[in-house]
Amino acid sequence: MYLLNTSHDNFMGKVKVAIVGVGNCASNFVQGIEYYRNDKSNSVGLMHRVAGGYDIGDMEVVAAFDIAEGKVGQDLSLAIFAPPNCTKTITSVPEMGVIVQKGPVLDGWGPHFEGIVTVSPEPECDIEQVLRDSKADVMVILLPSGSDQACYTYIKAALNLGIGVVNGIPVLASHDPEIVRLAEENKTSIIGDDFKSQLGGTILHHTLMHLFQIRGIEINKSYQINYGGNTDFLNLQTPRGSEKHKSKARGIKAGSDNNFDLSVNVSYIENQDDNKTCRIWIEGQNFSGCPVTFEGKLTVVDSANSSGVLADAIRCIMVAKRMGIYGRLDAPSAYFMKSPYIQMPDELAYKATDEFLMNP
Ligand SMILES: NC(=O)c1ccc[n+]([C@@H]2O[C@H](COP(=O)([O-])OP(=O)(O)OC[C@H]3O[C@@H](n4cnc5c(N)ncnc54)[C@H](O)[C@@H]3O)[C@@H](O)[C@H]2O)c1
Repeated sequence: MYLLNTSHDNFMGKVKVAIVGVGNCASNFVQGIEYYRNDKSNSVGLMHRVAGGYDIGDMEVVAAFDIAEGKVGQDLSLAIFAPPNCTKTITSVPEMGVIVQKGPVLDGWGPHFEGIVTVSPEPECDIEQVLRDSKADVMVILLPSGSDQACYTYIKAALNLGIGVVNGIPVLASHDPEIVRLAEENKTSIIGDDFKSQLGGTILHHTLMHLFQIRGIEINKSYQINYGGNTDFLNLQTPRGSEKHKSKARGIKAGSDNNFDLSVNVSYIENQDDNKTCRIWIEGQNFSGCPVTFEGKLTVVDSANSSGVLADAIRCIMVAKRMGIYGRLDAPSAYFMKSPYIQMPDELAYKATDEFLMNP
């Protein structure tokens, strides 16, 4: 049995989480934890209600960093609903006692955010001090794509303190030997990079490609176009999106030996808020060179598509710590991320990760 979806009495304690970037993904994650915590029999939409001995409701956010006016200085329960966040409201969240701290801006802000995100005038905090005080176990990186310097700054601060990292953005930090060494030296681990959403365009496209190939269809060309109206889409349609496109293409083509022509792009459509549409098109040839065309459309709440993956990745870091496994976690990275250091067939990554997560 690969999935275990029953609530239980907590026997492992809490998982203390630090969030970097209080955007739509953070908002859905915080709301989702509250939603499941209030209904212990509900496991709808979860890959694991219980993983590594932790119920989903055992996760507790203890620190949060952002740079935006309207979020910095607010209790996290309010900051998650501050504009330009635009994800669906799932539930109200009671005051958490976690005040959003202003982190270093670095490359987290760009001129394309002018008029949408104003940088808070508050002084920047000492990241390591905030993390130490919060006693966080795991830090999750939810910065805008292209925030390479900011991403590295937060990851190094966490690893220096022995705090594990889940890197949800397309900055290839977990491929960097210096980062892996820092994790090993400080007896912790990292999962990266760039979330492969629970049921997103990448895994769907990849699976369709695989189906075409094992049925003997020669793929000639394929494209994937994604559109939505959140700040992630606004950001991705600038040159900062180029690493995301590469990351998506890597995830779609992972393990494929067919060198077909693949094009991936995104578009920002403001009135779509956090609703994402993904269109996939594949053109190939079957028996006797006759044409085969597939066209499909997926619609999801974008940020919710990252939260289930994030919840499981966080608990993998906790299991690794308990088992004395340090450095980069390769199977969970292959299962949860578009650009792991080692790509693995999904089924293999799934089984290896599941066995790991079922470790009591
Ligand atoms: N399904 C998904 O939603 C999905 C899947 C894969 C990857 N991702 C990635 O997750 C990341 C987060 O997505 P999102 O939709 O929440 O984005 P978002 O734009 O809503 O949130 C980013 C947040 O980071 C904050 N920020 C910017 N610079 C900062 C800094 N230096 N320090 C601290 N905070 C800073 C912003 O103010 C904002 O609140 C993106 O990089 C996205 O590509 C998301």
